[in-house]
Amino acid sequence: MKHDDHGFLIAGNWKMNGSQELFSQFQQVFADGIDGVSVVVCPPYTLIRQESHNVISVGGQDVSEQASGAHTGEVSAQMLCDAGCRYAIVGHSERRVQQQENDDLIASKLIAAINSGLTGILCIGESEQIRESGQLFSFLESQLAAALKQLNKQQLQQVVVAYEPIWAIGTGNAATEQQVQEVHGFIRDYVCSLDMEVGSAMQLLYGGSVKPSNASALFSLPDVNGALVGGASLQPDTFYEICQLASEKR
Ligand code: PGA
Repeated sequence: MKHDDHGFLIAGNWKMNGSQELFSQFQQVFADGIDGVSVVVCPPYTLIRQESHNVISVGGQDVSEQASGAHTGEVSAQMLCDAGCRYAIVGHSERRVQQQENDDLIASKLIAAINSGLTGILCIGESEQIRESGQLFSFLESQLAAALKQLNKQQLQQVVVAYEPIWAIGTGNAATEQQVQEVHGFIRDYVCSLDMEVGSAMQLLYGGSVKPSNASALFSLPDVNGALVGGASLQPDTFYEICQLASEKR
């Protein structure tokens, strides 16, 4: 195992897709689990069922920053736990853009998730415009700092960072291996500057057009510990293949 003793984490983000039927198909395909790989599926809230989580872990695609009360349409971290979730995605770029979620709100959501015992999958990533303007690293650092700086060591241990360049999401064009390693190394250094031990062990996921044809090369990179998969997580066999490729890299 290359970086620590946490192994690989492969998370599928179904976005606003899927059905009970699809969830059952996943249960069948993943019935025996995958050696050395933690597999997580983040379906829409309506598909989260306590009884369905025996092999794959389940996560929310989002979480409310509030604990309870008059927040129509929201789902709290405690409710996700109650439904059997172990993870929650926070700060996905689609929510940052479509729901205008800012760094402060995302930081609050991350703390809410962590404090309920969930592992927060914090998404960060730049637009093409930011990359071209030469502000890539200062931008990513500001996203990281806003979400992570106020966390104590124990809280930080419940975070996974997913680097998802916006220009690579859903386009079929993943970032190059060099681009991914460069950013992942930067993220690792940043988290190590907060806490060396947590930074060295933190699972860093890459997301953005991950598919069987590029997964193996991405999983070989020193600071890539898994993937956040969108489109390719909707086909059980394809997602299984990606998880299997991670298993081979252990
Ligand atoms: P994609 O999506 O794999 O379809 O590019 C990734 C994501 O949005 O998490």
